[in-house]
Amino acid sequence: MAIDLNELNSDDRYRTVAMNQFNSITAENIFKPVYLHPNENTFNWVEADQLVDFCETNNKRLHGHTLIWHNQLPSWIENFEGTSSDWDLMFKKHIQTICTHFKGKVSSWDVVNEAFEDNGELRNTIWRQKIGDSYIEKAFVYAHESDPDAVLFYNDYNIASKKAKRQAILELFNSLRQKGVPIHGIGMQMHISIDYPKNKKIENALTELSDDGYKIHFSEIDISVNPNGKDIEPSTELYDCQADKLTAITKLYKEIPSEYQYGMTFWGVSDQNTWIRTFFGREDYPLLFDDDYNTKPVYCKFKETL
Ligand code: XIL
Repeated sequence: MAIDLNELNSDDRYRTVAMNQFNSITAENIFKPVYLHPNENTFNWVEADQLVDFCETNNKRLHGHTLIWHNQLPSWIENFEGTSSDWDLMFKKHIQTICTHFKGKVSSWDVVNEAFEDNGELRNTIWRQKIGDSYIEKAFVYAHESDPDAVLFYNDYNIASKKAKRQAILELFNSLRQKGVPIHGIGMQMHISIDYPKNKKIENALTELSDDGYKIHFSEIDISVNPNGKDIEPSTELYDCQADKLTAITKLYKEIPSEYQYGMTFWGVSDQNTWIRTFFGREDYPLLFDDDYNTKPVYCKFKETL
């Protein structure tokens, strides 16, 4: 599950669920560059290390999210001035300082997040503009140099629903792998809804990625019951549809060979703390626990399916 450290520290109900119900943790925000690397020569380990302690004490796997992304960047990176080799050095130091700090504590990394557009073109991120297309390859090489044991992922959304995007991702990473670049898995974010994408599309994506030898992480699951932001009340009917959707994708996930199943991560605990409400400003109930931390039908059916 994705953890918000403030909630973990301030709400016993949240903490109890985090401790008892999940065995793998991703930081929802505090491992992102804006938090970990607020100034060029300052790394802020305080909160992240608290999460490391929580994981060590409670025997949880910790997944690092994310080293390189175009969002949640500190302003010093956005305003950084220099040649492309200055950018490359800064980029390398960013990745390697972080990977070295968490070596042996973080099992796996989303090395690069959301580098493709839905149509399969490379997103024109600041990293691409300043370093060139090879920034993706370099990020994996640098991360691996600092922590050769870490499992390295590329992470993105709409991998199941957008075929062009998936094909472009596979084309790039298959060719990099042939060159020996260490890329171990692909994170499918899975911000989905009760009826989109269709299960068949998810099945096809799982087959293609695992056939090509990638570990697959359902890295940011939430299942919207109100994708169009209507005026709704949570109902038994919606909750049952949500339970059916999660059951279906869990069954599909369990069908891929076990060596390619990295895990399923929910993007939050209770509907009360879903990013969807604040980020998209719509009413929604996408997680396993309701606003009062009671289990929902989706939780019960999921547990039966596991
Ligand atoms: C989201 C967090 O959940 C929010 O709290 C934050 O305000 C914005 O980022 N894809 C990702 C995640 O890879 O990092 C995003 O997390 C959700 C979309």
